[in-house]
Amino acid sequence: MARIIAGVTSSHVPAIGAAIDLGKTEEPYWKRVFSGFEKSKEWMAKAKPDVVIEVYNDHASAFSVEMIPTFALGCAAEFPPADEGWGPRPVPVVKGHPKLAAHIAQSVILDEFDLTIVNKMEVDHGLTVPLNLMFGSPKEWPCPVIPLAVNVVVFPPPTAHRCFMLGRAIRKAVESYPEDLRVVVMGTGGMSHQISGPRAGLINSKFDKAYLDAIANDPLKLTRISHVEFMREAGAEGIEMVMWLIMRGALDDKVKEVYRFYTVPASNTAVGHIILENIPRAAAKVKRPPVGKKTVAGRSSKPKRAAAHRVKHDTVRTKR
Ligand code: DHB
Ligand code: FE
Repeated sequence: MARIIAGVTSSHVPAIGAAIDLGKTEEPYWKRVFSGFEKSKEWMAKAKPDVVIEVYNDHASAFSVEMIPTFALGCAAEFPPADEGWGPRPVPVVKGHPKLAAHIAQSVILDEFDLTIVNKMEVDHGLTVPLNLMFGSPKEWPCPVIPLAVNVVVFPPPTAHRCFMLGRAIRKAVESYPEDLRVVVMGTGGMSHQISGPRAGLINSKFDKAYLDAIANDPLKLTRISHVEFMREAGAEGIEMVMWLIMRGALDDKVKEVYRFYTVPASNTAVGHIILENIPRAAAKVKRPPVGKKTVAGRSSKPKRAAAHRVKHDTVRTKR
């Protein structure tokens, strides 16, 4: 059985990619940012996941304003870097995992999350910058990466609650995949930033730090944050942080925080990063919810292997 071993969040500022590509990582401004990811790279090298599922947002590179899927899962064998105006970044082509991706698409869609299946897609800094931060700059990325693109660019993005529940559905999908794969889920984007308009340059460290605390220890609280609150507190682009909740929904309720880093700014953005591990099952007392009860749709659900993590669309009640 495949299982999710950990979740990672990281910002995705394009200037971080440019600093890597232009050899500026030792400059004091950038060293402050990159030094915060040294331990993370060590952690990742030890964790050695078989697959990464990376939740990220496209910035009008793969999807123009002509077509805006809310959730788009990359099911292709590879995803080349996109040209964002200066030519494609000199990073390896991302290799996907078509079999696991197709399995996730099937499981999640049958669980009533209507995601878009994408069989051809280029990936921009939203995906490649966090990969650099976690894996450095290798010749090839060390494992397959399944991209999950989320619309946070054009109103309305998905709600925080919807993202969390999608994470739960993804977890159920992964745990019903028969091959023994160790999976890390990355939730990227954020933290507070606004890159245009009268509030350009806005950063709210108090909000960001509280968000980091809650993503580790009280994620349900974050599912109640509205779009307006994200924008008011964390700037227009701060809405990217809903993507972290897909990662968090895919983890256990209680997790072990193994590392955290926060620095301000990188370009216009507060950089926030956290690594959360699922506690191995043998060590944790897993409280299993009753199975065989009526589901929301009124169907009777039969106990199955992954029943402990059945997605219940009404599990988390929120005020919006
Ligand atoms: C910046 C941050 C982003 O998330 C982005 O997509 C573009 C620019 C910035 O901080 O400059
Ligand atoms: Fe962005």
